[in-house]
Amino acid sequence: MTPTTTWFLMPGMVDTHIHASQYSYSGTALDLPLLDWLNTYTFPVESRYKDLDYARNVYTKVLKRTLRNGTTTACYFATIHTDASLLLGQIADDFGQRALVGKVCMDCNSTVPYYKEPLKECKDETLRFIRELLKKEYAHVKPVVTPRFAVSCSSSLLHTLGKIAKNNDLHIQSHISENKEEVKLVKQLFPDCKSYTDVYLKHDLLTDKTVMAHGCYLSDEELKIFHERGAAISHCPNSNLSLASGMLNVRNVLNHKVKLGLGTDVAGGYSPSMLDALRRAMDTSKVLSMQDAQHQTLTFEEAFRLATLGGSEALSLDDQTGNFEVGKDFDALRASFSSTDGSFCFSFCFQVILEKFLNLGRILYICPVALSM
Ligand code: GUN
Ligand code: ZN
Repeated sequence: MTPTTTWFLMPGMVDTHIHASQYSYSGTALDLPLLDWLNTYTFPVESRYKDLDYARNVYTKVLKRTLRNGTTTACYFATIHTDASLLLGQIADDFGQRALVGKVCMDCNSTVPYYKEPLKECKDETLRFIRELLKKEYAHVKPVVTPRFAVSCSSSLLHTLGKIAKNNDLHIQSHISENKEEVKLVKQLFPDCKSYTDVYLKHDLLTDKTVMAHGCYLSDEELKIFHERGAAISHCPNSNLSLASGMLNVRNVLNHKVKLGLGTDVAGGYSPSMLDALRRAMDTSKVLSMQDAQHQTLTFEEAFRLATLGGSEALSLDDQTGNFEVGKDFDALRASFSSTDGSFCFSFCFQVILEKFLNLGRILYICPVALSM
């Protein structure tokens, strides 16, 4: 029988955490735990973005690939290089993707000596990045203050970045509690802080415009602080599994009413697709249910919300995108759905079509943000 194809419009997906600079090695180098992985693979690759031709080539591919996979909004880590980070912003604007772009800040504990900046240079370059990106007046591309994570930043750098974010009312992104060894190291590096969350709290980096990736090992106390501050978590299940970092208990995060979105975390996560992130989030939730009969598995409707509206809330962009509420921009995907049994296909209720699409689907067409109403 000839397949019947129908289509529907859905909100564009929001990738709340992706390293554009790591796209070049995605799908490889997943044989080491986080801290070794960073020093062995990540920092040497990221150091190549001093070369703007290299950066232009990879960043163009990232924009094409994420858009083709239905990501209409992305929160990007670039590298420590200001000019290449500005170029990523320009390419996102050229392609019409809504984006937060971060020049990465790190001044210590890199075993790759050429991949970090002295404090003063990092501060000056961060200010230049913010000034120059804002001067472009891109409609949908904004800077995000980006301390890499507590391990890579001195207390002075964290304080400096907290002040910069506050003075300029900017978004903030970083990593938190991804891997047990990392959590232990942060305790040693910041002995005066009660927890990993307390490190960011004490440095004014936990605001209602903050998104922290991972959070696998956050305690209930820490989740309460996230809720009180209005800070968000980006759940990156592909990365958590690929680097064997941990499994975020999404149900517990939602019960604490902490803003939550999904992230691909390329290249810790090997896939740039948000549908993949959604599927891995469902898988992780099911594994947690296998381990604990009391665990309430994530529904596909909840996973869909995390990939769209939840992501826009996590990035504090839900006044502009995330669903088709009147007054928001029309960030939309045209999704196809086909069946070899046409009559069966048309008798499906929309909920079944959505579930099938989330589990098996692909994206056909993306309405660019430029078509916003
Ligand atoms: N923690 C600090 N930097 C990184 C990074 O690049 N990827 C991941 N997954 N975790 C990090
Ligand atoms: Zn990351």
